[in-house]
Amino acid sequence: MSSAPLLELSGVDLSYGPYRALFGVSFTVSARAAVALVGSNGSGKTSVARVVSGLVRARAGSIRFDGRDVTRWPAWRIARAGLVHVPEGRSVLGSLTVEENLLLGLEGLAGRHGGAGALERAYSMFPRLSDRRRQLAGTLSGGEQRMLALGRAVAVPEQLLVVDELSLGLSPTVVDEIFSGLREILASGTSLLVIEQHVERVLALAERVVVLAHGRVAGEGPAGELAGVLSSLRPSPGRPEPPTSAAGGGLA
Ligand SMILES: Nc1ncnc2c1ncn2[C@@H]1O[C@H](COP(=O)(O)OP(=O)(O)OP(=O)(O)O)[C@@H](O)[C@H]1O
Ligand SMILES: [Mg+2]
Repeated sequence: MSSAPLLELSGVDLSYGPYRALFGVSFTVSARAAVALVGSNGSGKTSVARVVSGLVRARAGSIRFDGRDVTRWPAWRIARAGLVHVPEGRSVLGSLTVEENLLLGLEGLAGRHGGAGALERAYSMFPRLSDRRRQLAGTLSGGEQRMLALGRAVAVPEQLLVVDELSLGLSPTVVDEIFSGLREILASGTSLLVIEQHVERVLALAERVVVLAHGRVAGEGPAGELAGVLSSLRPSPGRPEPPTSAAGGGLA
């Protein structure tokens, strides 16, 4: 069981101009595993997603993916190697239909994995998309747009999917659909790095958790242990709240 990790960050520093966002961030994601990346707003989660997918450059440290040093690789090359990033917010093309958006994601890959099968994979994961295949993506609801962004990323099986706050602002039923999609992706053999505000849901999916605080890894461990700590901190009805200082401002 000592196989090399699929993704490995070692001492990664990141700056945006004079602003330092990440300080010596190190953690790993194993093959066929899900890791949750949690932390309060501004703690650096999106910055980690951007740096591993090559959208921003690490100032120091290294990133290895699938046995290769990808620290200086451009984003397109990292994506082609099998690391797919679904960014924060809406990332679909509103003036194209659902199916055109999916096909765009498949362009250039059809020969590799089979275009029609890939479309069906996205539709079977999210049947709502199938019902709306000719609808303009810009007229989809927020949740449906998030499903389309995920569907585009998973139409073709890849090695690692990095998803950033897919469920932000969505109703519980839509979040359920998105998480069942993520579970299917994991079961199909793709590893996941999941950034989420819905900590409890992500803890049910991921086996390991990395906690970020102020651009640093503040803690790391099995999801089961963190779930226990969180539930002991959460006030239950009729029980007094624990002292706020003990919680350290929430999660991180
Ligand atoms: N392009 C940028 N230029 C300057 N500063 C940035 C830039 N992007 C992010 N930052 C800063 O880096 C820090 C980390 O931001 P990041 O987006 O990684 O946080 P986050 O954990 O994803 O937060 P949230 O939960 O709110 O999405 C923040 O203080 C942010 O203001
Ligand atoms: Mg973010």
